[in-house]
Amino acid sequence: MASVPTLEDLGDIRGKTVLVRTDFNVPMSGADDARVITDDFRIRAALPTINFLLDGGAKVICASHLGRPNGEPTAKYSMQPVRERLQQLAPGVVLLENLRFNPGEEKYDPEFVKQLVEGVDMYVDDAFGAAHRDHASIVGPPKTLPSAAGRLLQREVEILGGMREKPARPFVAVLGGSKVSDKLAVIKVLQERVDALIIGGGMCFTFLAAKGYPVGDSLCEPDYIETCRQLMEGNVPIHLPEDIVGLDADGVYATFGVRLPNGAKGLDIGPGSAAAFTDIIMDARTVFWNGPMGMFEDPRFAAGTRTVAQAVADTKAFTVVGGGDSAAALAQFKLDDEVDHVSTGGGASLEFLELGDLPGLAALRGAPNVK
Ligand code: 3PG
Repeated sequence: MASVPTLEDLGDIRGKTVLVRTDFNVPMSGADDARVITDDFRIRAALPTINFLLDGGAKVICASHLGRPNGEPTAKYSMQPVRERLQQLAPGVVLLENLRFNPGEEKYDPEFVKQLVEGVDMYVDDAFGAAHRDHASIVGPPKTLPSAAGRLLQREVEILGGMREKPARPFVAVLGGSKVSDKLAVIKVLQERVDALIIGGGMCFTFLAAKGYPVGDSLCEPDYIETCRQLMEGNVPIHLPEDIVGLDADGVYATFGVRLPNGAKGLDIGPGSAAAFTDIIMDARTVFWNGPMGMFEDPRFAAGTRTVAQAVADTKAFTVVGGGDSAAALAQFKLDDEVDHVSTGGGASLEFLELGDLPGLAALRGAPNVK
């Protein structure tokens, strides 16, 4: 399993200046110059590391990306609202401006790395959500500075690594979200590790099309129908919805079977599917859930995701929820305290499950303080 140096491997931190790469890529709303944080989970998740360093007498400088500003400073992606929240939670901690305002971040420009490490004694990576990116602030500092994983990153590696290598069985993965093309690699890897796969969300329509069902105007990726067909020929059962909720050709709310009429659009799994998925989740001993079952932001299409979230909360299985939309859904249904682990990484958790390692973790293992 991928190992990482931990905060204890930094040795004496008293009086040291520590650069902490955090993932403060938080959801926001409001006008571009008056952005408001809608969920501060990722800021609070960095506090154990920040407090460890402060308690040990270090000076802490945090650095993060926010959104995808493509190397251009813009008010929309300013770190100021995050800085204000961080000041409330960890007074005295410095937060640099959005790393992605500098084109050198995503290009891994050595000049930008030099700027980042100037006057810094040590580096801590606590940005699990960005550990799959080989960006300057992730892979650059450990080349020269004593480095470690923060508590959040360490916990993510332990929990996701444990689930990947030695899960209690039956191990069930529940996948949703819109695009099957984004998840093909991880589906292939999961098929080698899980006992059953449940597929809902927009991505289920490419699978339903692969079974020969008409999907109306639902999200479907025709280029991947053949791949989905092959995936369903594997040894691990893939459970698909047996009923669908959505809009008919006139835009009226309707419940369908698995055959959608012309012009109809599937936007959630139906109650029969949600009940069937619940049974499988309740019988599992490990559950990994990534991706909503439908367009849960719209209350008309939230029931499928809510039922699956409730099953993940209620099952006795060890439950891990991959970040992003599924974490947001759990929070919306106030179930985030009912699961064993909510990962702070969406793409990162999938890539870690797929590969068992990430560029950010490999960089830490190569740091000068690691033997
Ligand atoms: C995320 O939100 O998943 C992380 O912050 C990574 O963001 P990115 O996909 O823009 O690199």
